[in-house]
Amino acid sequence: MSRAVPDPKAAVGRAAAALVESGMRVGLGTGSTAVHVARAVAEAVRSGALRDLALVPTSSQIQAVCWDLGLDLLTLSDPAVGGALDVAIDGADEVDPAWNLTKGGGGALLNEKVVARAASRYVIVVDESKLVARLGERIALPVEVVPFALAPVRAALERRGYRPAVRMAERKQGPVVTDNGNLLIDAWPPAELDPVRAERELAAIPGVVENGLFTACVTDLMVGSAAGVRHERRPLPR
Ligand code: A5P
Repeated sequence: MSRAVPDPKAAVGRAAAALVESGMRVGLGTGSTAVHVARAVAEAVRSGALRDLALVPTSSQIQAVCWDLGLDLLTLSDPAVGGALDVAIDGADEVDPAWNLTKGGGGALLNEKVVARAASRYVIVVDESKLVARLGERIALPVEVVPFALAPVRAALERRGYRPAVRMAERKQGPVVTDNGNLLIDAWPPAELDPVRAERELAAIPGVVENGLFTACVTDLMVGSAAGVRHERRPLPR
């Protein structure tokens, strides 16, 4: 008789942490699923099962979690890391059938993308609710913008068929300010979105620091559900 998994996010987080080996340089993602990864890594460090890790956080959120767990952190530029990671493990807000992602629901897309592109292996951990037929189904696309460029970027997005809105803070007056001091626009994309092209086009708008489309970077997808964890690996498209 198969038993239902009580917490798919915890299960997938633990399963992904098992990919980490002693001596690795590891990028730690942002969000509630990534917290489970950090907890499992911390447990393994405490027990001595993992040693000599170089851990790089993608946000102030996961940084605070890691510090609470007693994990030492480095940045991408520390000599022990040297700008490259063996593996990065992160959550996502949407995953399409080609493994294109929408990210940035938690506001951390810029550092997340730097870490994603620096990693030889990029592992995405989600529960089934994140799997969509097309991006833009469940979340607007986050776009990180230099404050000075807010109005022209909003206008540029509208011209391209997006419906943009500045992300406002909760329990603080005014807009959300990212870890890097920028603002966020959440832009509902046009129906005929081509994620690979859109990622490039949005990056070319002056004042856009980064966008939440992550294409052609995922090597491993791990999906947690009541039935367990499904892990698939694919070569990156050339
Ligand atoms: C952070 O900005 C996002 O890219 C997160 O990776 C995403 O929101 C995943 O969060 P959950 O694991 O909490 O769903």
